Formats: sequence, C-alpha cells, structure tokens
Amino acid sequence: MSQFKAVALEHASRLINHGPTVLVTSKDGARRNIMAAAWSMPVEFTPPRIAIVIDKNTYTRELVMASGTFGVCIPGAAAADVTYAVGSSSGRDSDKFAEYGIEPIAGPVLGLPLVEKNCAAWLECRLIREPHTEDAYDTCFGEVVAAASDPRVFHNGHWIFDSSNESLHTLHHLGAGNFASASNILRAKPLS
Ligand SMILES: Cc1cc2nc3c(=O)[nH]c(=O)nc-3n(C[C@H](O)[C@H](O)[C@H](O)COP(=O)(O)O)c2cc1C
Repeated sequence: MSQFKAVALEHASRLINHGPTVLVTSKDGARRNIMAAAWSMPVEFTPPRIAIVIDKNTYTRELVMASGTFGVCIPGAAAADVTYAVGSSSGRDSDKFAEYGIEPIAGPVLGLPLVEKNCAAWLECRLIREPHTEDAYDTCFGEVVAAASDPRVFHNGHWIFDSSNESLHTLHHLGAGNFASASNILRAKPLS
C-alpha cells in the first residue's frame, strides 16, 4: 500500500535541490527502462523545470527522445544496491525492472513507470526539447507535471532527515558505487 502523497508543484524543485542521485525512468509503448543519474538539478521554480544529464549512448536517452517524457525517482539509502545495479547495466540487454525485482507503479499524468519501494519521492516530467544542449552536453530539460513523496521524509515542501527514517535518506554518489546518505539538517543562523 503506497504511503506516497502528492507534492505541490511549487515545491517540486526542493525534491532535487540538494543533489540526490536519482533513478531516471522511461517508457515508449511497450518498452520501459530505468537508470541511475547523479547529475540533475532544478532550473526553474514556476513552472517547475529540471535538467538531467542523460548520456546519448544510453537506452534511457533513446526512450526519452522517442516518448518526450521521463520519470525521476529519488532512492533512499535502502535502495543503494538497486541504484548502483541499474546504473551499471543497460536496458538494451534486459528488462531491469524484471531483473532486479523492481515493481513500478504507473504515473498519474504520463503513465511513466515510477518506483516507490525504498524511494523517498518521484516526479513525472515532460521533455522540453533543446536539441543543442541535448547534443552538445547530454543535458535534457523537463517540466514537472506531477510529483509525490513519502511524507515520513518529505512533507509540506521540506525534507525531514532524522533517525526515524534512515532507510529513506537520499543518496549522494561519491563514485565507484560509494554513496553518502543525507543525514543531519543544519540551520544557518544570521551572522549579525
Ligand atoms: C550512481 C550512478 C550515477 C550515474 N549518473 C549518471 C548521470 O548522471 N548521467 C548519465 O548519463 N549516466 C549516469 N550513470 C550511468 C548510467 O546509469 C548507465 O550508463 C546505465 O547503464 C544506462 O542504462 P540504460 O542504457 O539502460 O539507459 C550513473 C551510474 C551510476 C551507477
């Protein structure tokens, strides 16, 4: 049973503001796929827009360009192994959902495969075509059309990282399969 609750689109950028490693999901007709991406960021609050580097050699890029859509799922610490696995093999060779026992739900607006188990949040995005940045920098822009989170870790537009939800703390890739997970929240105080 899903614990996820809708996230207001005005808060969608906060889901990736802190630079978590994400899972990029895609679907074109009967073809579906999932890969890891460490390079993503918000680029606009309203309408909510994001950018992700999706290498042109990936199967994901082929499906994203064919469908004009992509999903972004934000894995928690409990999903570190599956995140590394889907970032280390190609959907051209096998259906990674089936291979790694990932059971996606269908996104409410675009029908994209989205992962909730061991994930903190997801976003459904419509590709914004920018052929130059796609070709030159593999950077793909998207407008967020739906978002949801597990309210135990993201609620009312804010992340909550504490000892009660460590398995949902977001992942930050250090390289070669090593991750740091988000932990202490520090609040900056005015200096004067
Ligand atoms: C932790 C991690 C982060 C990654 N980040 C990116 C990224 O930001 N952009 C990218 O194009 N590939 C990234 N990759 C590599 C892709 O996930 C990898 O090439 C994948 O096999 C592509 O799968 P596909 O061919 O099924 O689309 C990353 C891999 C890992 C393990």
